[in-house]
Parts: sequence; C-alpha cells; structure tokens
Amino acid sequence: APRPALLLSRPPAAHPAAGEPLTRSTQETTTLSLPLPSALPPALAPEALPRLIDALVEQGWYLGEGVLDADLCAELHAELTALAERDALEAAGIGRGQELQLRRDIRGDAIHWLDRESLAQRRYLEAMGELQRALNQALFLGLFEYEAHFAHYPPGAFYRRHLDSFRGRANRVVSTVGYLNPDWPEDGGGEMVLYAPDDPEREVARVRPEAGNFACFLSDTIPHEVLPTRLPRASIAGWFRRNASLGGLVDPAR
Ligand code: OGA
Ligand code: MN
Repeated sequence: APRPALLLSRPPAAHPAAGEPLTRSTQETTTLSLPLPSALPPALAPEALPRLIDALVEQGWYLGEGVLDADLCAELHAELTALAERDALEAAGIGRGQELQLRRDIRGDAIHWLDRESLAQRRYLEAMGELQRALNQALFLGLFEYEAHFAHYPPGAFYRRHLDSFRGRANRVVSTVGYLNPDWPEDGGGEMVLYAPDDPEREVARVRPEAGNFACFLSDTIPHEVLPTRLPRASIAGWFRRNASLGGLVDPAR
C-alpha cells in the first residue's frame, strides 16, 4: 500500500476546478484529515526574526512578547508539568561532566533535556533550527548545534546571576529562553533579569515568564539571573553551539 506521505504530495484536490461540485472522495477526506505539520502555524513568529537579529547585533540581547505560538506553549507546558508530577525531572547542576555540582544556593530548578519525543518538542526544535540558519546567514556565527532543556522552578526557586559560557573557554554562543506559563500574574515573580556586559550591577532588561515570551542573548556577554518565583515556573533554556574544539577547551558532552 502507498505510504500516506505519497498521497500528501498530490496536487491539491481540495480546490476543485470551476464548475466542479465541492465533494471529495473518501480517500481524499482521509488524506486531508491527517495532521499535517505544514498546516500548523509557525512556532516562532517570522516577523520577530529580523528584530531579533538587529537586537543581537546592536545590544547583544533580544526580548519579544507573543513570539512563540500559544498552542505550542500550552502543549510544552503540559508536557513539562506531567514530567514534574511524575518526578521525572533531574535537579539542575552547575558546570558540566565531572565538575557538575548541585548548588541549591545558586540554582533551584529541575530539568529534562529535550529529546524530540513529542511533536511539540520537535516543533520547538525545528523552529530553533530555523533561527540557527537565520543567525548563521546574517551574522556568520558558524552555529552548528542546538541543545535545550525544559526547566521547572518550584515556588521559591531562583537562579543567581551568571553567564552561560566563558569567553574562549566554551562553545555556547547564543542562549535562548522560551517561556511557557499562561496568565502569569504581575506578582508571580520569576522574572529573568539581564545585566549590562560591562557592568553586571546594571540591569538592562527584565522579562516575565509569560507564555509566548522569548529571550535570546550572547552566551558569553550577557549576565542574567532568575528572580525567586512565587509560583511553579516553566521555561525551555537552550544554546546554539559552535564546534570550538581547539586546545581541548570544548564543553565536555553532558
Ligand atoms: C539558564 C537560565 C533562564 C530562565 O538555564 O541558564 O539562565 O529564565 N535560564 O529560565
Ligand atoms: Mn543562563
């Protein structure tokens, strides 16, 4: 039997020629009812891309509201909530590989690395792949890989001010954070605060973890922190990496 994918590449029979009645064969109805990825709205609003690139060049960071598709955020939020409820998350650490340390006084989130196991994850990663191509095209960044994890901050959790990579020492180049929490209240806490590259005491921006919000910044340049959250807080933190294997200074595999 032919695979459904072959049927999908047929000319669109849904648009009848002039004068033809608006009916479909049973087979066509079946075909058209398949959940086509192409029928989904873009995961990342396309109009955000040029702004994101300009902001990254001019100030090293970008914040956007309503950038991530609302339905996708809802699905990812449900997936992360389910993982948290069945205790399937791991406590987040500081550092990598052998040097990984648990430091509740520095960060209190629990994580799960994205592994493409759901359609929602694949949509999110697909969108990040497009962002990677756009960044490489516009900025010649040579990004070649993306890694990301869900992060669940229970009430009271925070992440102290930090950089995501250290100049010349690691290969994380651009950081992304997507927020998943619908109807985040004004007093919910959990904002991410960005600081000036040359003065880590000076706040330059702050983003609420409201579903749809998206942040992007240079990993070795922008100090940032997560303020203590009052409510359970869901996000996806991710990093575009470059293959900086010179001198054995590449980040060890996680
Ligand atoms: C991180 C991080 C910010 C956030 O995981 O490195 O800074 O808002 N996360 O979740
Ligand atoms: Mn960070």
